[in-house]
Amino acid sequence: MADLNVNIGELQMKNPVMTASGTFGYGLEFADFIELARIGGIIVKGTTLHKREGNPYPRMAETPSGMLNAVGLQNKGVHHFVEHIYPSIKDIQTNMIVNVSGSAIEDYVETAAIINELDKISAIELNISCPNVKQGGMAFGVTAKGAEEVVKAVRSVYKKTLIVKLSPNVTDITEIARAVENGGADSVSLINTLLGMAIDAEHRRPILSTVTGGLSGAAVKPIALRMVWQVSKAVKIPVIGMGGIMNWKDAVEFMLAGATAIQIGTANFIDPTVTVKVAESIDDYLNRHNYTSVKDIIGALEV
Ligand SMILES: Cc1cc2nc3c(=O)[nH]c(=O)nc-3n(C[C@H](O)[C@H](O)[C@H](O)COP(=O)(O)O)c2cc1C
Repeated sequence: MADLNVNIGELQMKNPVMTASGTFGYGLEFADFIELARIGGIIVKGTTLHKREGNPYPRMAETPSGMLNAVGLQNKGVHHFVEHIYPSIKDIQTNMIVNVSGSAIEDYVETAAIINELDKISAIELNISCPNVKQGGMAFGVTAKGAEEVVKAVRSVYKKTLIVKLSPNVTDITEIARAVENGGADSVSLINTLLGMAIDAEHRRPILSTVTGGLSGAAVKPIALRMVWQVSKAVKIPVIGMGGIMNWKDAVEFMLAGATAIQIGTANFIDPTVTVKVAESIDDYLNRHNYTSVKDIIGALEV
């Protein structure tokens, strides 16, 4: 067996496979399908300071090789998380990471400060890239100044590993990545969903209640791969790659492009055991190619 350990900031992971926020609940929902301890980390649902109802239905649409969603960060707020969810997930034997969203800098800061006190949460992933909420979210992630400002503010209160999730809905993602690195992030993760839309021609209506939504799944992979490659050359902090990873080959491609770890999202809806299969198959790949450590393939693309 090859060494599958990777580090993201102070986070030590037994393998590079994580779950993407919003596609894996709080982890427990998948405990009947896989042994959760066999994945490197679980990024839980987007969490905000106050409760959010999310967007009206319909908020999902299937598209060729992908899906559109406009869930809109539905969650019961960070206080509910601390009191009711944290106690039930704190003994899961892998890294538990909370995805934090907000619509104002103060919201991000207050939420991060509350989560900083939770022993078992080893990192946060700051979502400055959600395309499905009217205020905030993506607004911070689309300008270098806005991104740096929110990261700096959160860095001043959050003492553990700070991952910042980038939006692909920008002209130059490397500029935002550099700003986030300057702001004090320990890592960047990318990509969040790409803004798209779907139409029901018979009724001349948009399919999603919000008209536009976030595209994910296999359809976005080439774009995500390109952005991971560009960002990994632009920053020194570790990059976490995601976007359309459906199997181990996709995961290996992201690592060759420069990702230290990867996240799997939409594929969990198709096969709830995909994460464990990918971790096992990365090991097979390393053995077949005589690598002793997964670190040897990070950025090993020969151009
Ligand atoms: C139903 C759904 C809900 C999502 N919710 C969140 C969220 O709350 N926070 C976040 O940062 N990303 C969220 N995402 C984006 C994913 O974490 C991921 O960045 C994106 O789907 C691309 O990866 P994939 O192609 O493997 O799904 C969501 C995606 C889907 C499909």
